[in-house]
Amino acid sequence: MNFDRTYLLWSLCYAVLGMTLGIYMAASHNHAEFVTHAHILLVGFAVSFIYGTIHKLWLVAPSRGVAKLQFVLHQASAITMTGGLFLLFANMVPAPTLEPFLAVASIGVLVGMLLMIYMVIKYQGARTA
Ligand code: HEM
Ligand code: HEM
Repeated sequence: MNFDRTYLLWSLCYAVLGMTLGIYMAASHNHAEFVTHAHILLVGFAVSFIYGTIHKLWLVAPSRGVAKLQFVLHQASAITMTGGLFLLFANMVPAPTLEPFLAVASIGVLVGMLLMIYMVIKYQGARTA
């Protein structure tokens, strides 16, 4: 798997999803989902784009196992978090039911960031250009 390109593609898909929700909110004058919109675009689009850029520019031959774990953890957490927020703000599922999922997903996003820091430190290599 080419992690820079895979992150880029996922990032752009979150952008489409987040913008669609933004346009829906603007058109319907119902901004109830603005927290979901913000996190699809920031945790999904922006952070995935940043991770893709880090892979492209700064990581030299990272361990495939660690890179895959970091990628899967970030995406699973981002999907759980934004899906959970959507259900929460649409009043589809009560908050006490969703909170454990949101809590685990939040920690997953954080651990994904810590794993990326680990890779940046460990796999910096000696790039010449
Ligand atoms: C098609 C493009 C977009 C549309 C139509 C749109 C629409 C909206 C709407 C209607 C709100 C709710 C405003 C409110 O009630 O306070 C909002 C909030 C927000 N949007 Fe977007 N948006 C778009 C793109 C983006 C992008 C690309 C980002 C970030 C990468 C972004 C980040 C945010 C954030 C962080 C908020 C929350 C702001 C706050 O705290 O009040 N949006 N957007
Ligand atoms: C561990 C992951 C995260 C958790 C648990 C989290 C949680 C929250 C919470 C509880 C709020 C307040 C929502 C409200 O208004 O009621 C919030 C707002 C916000 N967060 Fe996050 N967040 C996380 C990650 C991020 C990241 C990575 C970004 C940006 C890259 C971000 C950007 C924002 C912004 C711009 C707002 C204000 C807009 C809004 O209320 O939707 N968050 N976040």
